[in-house]
Amino acid sequence: MSLRLTRPYGTYWTTMDAERWNSFHYNQGAIHEDFDKWYKANAPTFDTVLEVGCGHGEQARITFGGHKYLGIDIGNGIEIAQNHKKKDPLHEFIQIDVMTAKLTKHDLVFAINVIDHVESPNAFIDRLISLANKQVVIHSYNGYDKASDNHTIKVNGTGDCYLNKLSVKELTRTYPQAEIKRLVSSTIVRITI
Ligand SMILES: C[S@@+](CC[C@H](N)C(=O)[O-])C[C@H]1O[C@@H](n2cnc3c(N)ncnc32)[C@H](O)[C@@H]1O
Repeated sequence: MSLRLTRPYGTYWTTMDAERWNSFHYNQGAIHEDFDKWYKANAPTFDTVLEVGCGHGEQARITFGGHKYLGIDIGNGIEIAQNHKKKDPLHEFIQIDVMTAKLTKHDLVFAINVIDHVESPNAFIDRLISLANKQVVIHSYNGYDKASDNHTIKVNGTGDCYLNKLSVKELTRTYPQAEIKRLVSSTIVRITI
């Protein structure tokens, strides 16, 4: 059963002002660096890359300089990536909802700090798997929960954004092929297609 939001899904992200976006950027350095390290060790196998929920394009700038890259995001923070004066000509940013948009498959599909806020973590993972030729990588920043049998899905104080915590047990049960790792207090899910 899914919780009802007080505003349609995505409104939280499409109405956020730039100052609030900046305050998001922020303290997730270890997650972005870990993805960067992993990518650089595996990159030769990925010709095409899709980032889901790319926000300002932080990971694009850190990892994908000189590489063809598509970033999508439902929210207006993507305007910062689209209009960045140092934007890489090989980078494209499109404002769309991954769950409903028509998208082609990419070798690598990844999402950083997004699954923490989606309506259904498993539907999100299934969607990313359906878009990937070779590899899916998902980083969740909201903890590493070994105890709960199921994902915890709550909403924030204003009721307009999901706050999820992934359950390692549910991930292992539903995606036995996944590599699940802990990074400080966050969860990494890697699925090879
Ligand atoms: C916490 S921010 C993380 C942004 C960026 N990945 C980072 O780590 O800096 C979550 C992002 O996911 C995006 N998002 C949430 N649901 C989405 C969806 N269904 N399709 C595309 N983007 C989505 C939001 O708009 C927001 O930019």
